[in-house]
Amino acid sequence: MQPAAERVPGEMSAAGIGRKPGKRHAAGGPLQMRKRKGRRRTEAMKRMRRLRANETLRSLVRETQLTRQDLIYPIFVIEGEGIANPVDSMPGIRQYSIDRLDEELERVCAAGITALMLFGIPSHKDETGSQAYCDDGVTQRAVRHIKQAYPQILVIADVCLCEYTSHGHCGLVCGEEILNDETLPLLAKMAVSLAAAGADILAPSDMMDGRVAAIRKALDENGFQKKPIMAYSAKFASGFYGPFREAAHSAPGFGDRKTYQMDPANRREAIRECLADIEEGADIIMVKPALAYLDVVREVADRTDYPLAAYNVSGEYAMVKAAAANGWIDEKRVVMEIMLGIRRAGAKMIITYHAPDVARWLDEE
Ligand code: PBG
Repeated sequence: MQPAAERVPGEMSAAGIGRKPGKRHAAGGPLQMRKRKGRRRTEAMKRMRRLRANETLRSLVRETQLTRQDLIYPIFVIEGEGIANPVDSMPGIRQYSIDRLDEELERVCAAGITALMLFGIPSHKDETGSQAYCDDGVTQRAVRHIKQAYPQILVIADVCLCEYTSHGHCGLVCGEEILNDETLPLLAKMAVSLAAAGADILAPSDMMDGRVAAIRKALDENGFQKKPIMAYSAKFASGFYGPFREAAHSAPGFGDRKTYQMDPANRREAIRECLADIEEGADIIMVKPALAYLDVVREVADRTDYPLAAYNVSGEYAMVKAAAANGWIDEKRVVMEIMLGIRRAGAKMIITYHAPDVARWLDEE
């Protein structure tokens, strides 16, 4: 564009703007082409707002749907009696003893939630996490209770030792090392005992190598060929698990989980983890956490054709709750936007502490 001072009055037509005087082309030449181009630009103007005019129209063209059947609600069951203990860092979430679990289950059913992720907190912890695979453990009893009282609810049982070990790691330890192969038989035993208690799906979250194959084999050998495995396939070593560790009493006593959970920097490796779990027999794969890893969710969705879950973890929940409690954000709007974002990234299932609220809000819409 030349400076305004050099422009000749009369040459200010749409096609003429910016043209150098004396360089006009004859009619039929490039000038006409320019004119046509200008007109085409006006005709082709993209009016995206046409389809946003009202809610009926917007919902007609909406690309992503969220339903209550997409939601999985995590609950914490603690050994003891008469307990409904609020978790400070997770407003709205409590640890329930089995005798008070029905309060929560009634709420879950009333909201129309159809699937639960179950975490048990034993009173006794030891080096080998023996309460994890004890047929009378708190988690096994909780599964039995739920399946008896609410058979229609799908119970997904977390399979991991960290809530049950005195050192808080997800595997057996030797000195500072977290042992892999030695842990596998214990995870397999835990999965079988939870399946025997009635768990509908087994969900290994420990990130030991080879655990899906070990669990699949043990389930099959014990008559549980039909029980699916939901694998926490791409589980990152994340600061977002902080509140959960308070809720589940599962913070590691020494070191961290970086030798078994994934490096947050790695996207390509996440694909390898998912493909490995599929090969080992996983029926459902998972990316966790969700929000800082939506690119991973999208890529896994594109590169695999297995049902995909994303875990909207405790720290993600806590941040929203804290901001909402301060009046800094509109909780409903933000939560629904987060849910849609996870679905849009390509996850079918969302494991979330917001589940009962989301189900209620879906009704209001
Ligand atoms: C157990 C487990 C964890 C979570 C789910 N299963 C914690 C961890 O790995 O430290 C985290 C869930 C959440 O933060 O909401 N291995």
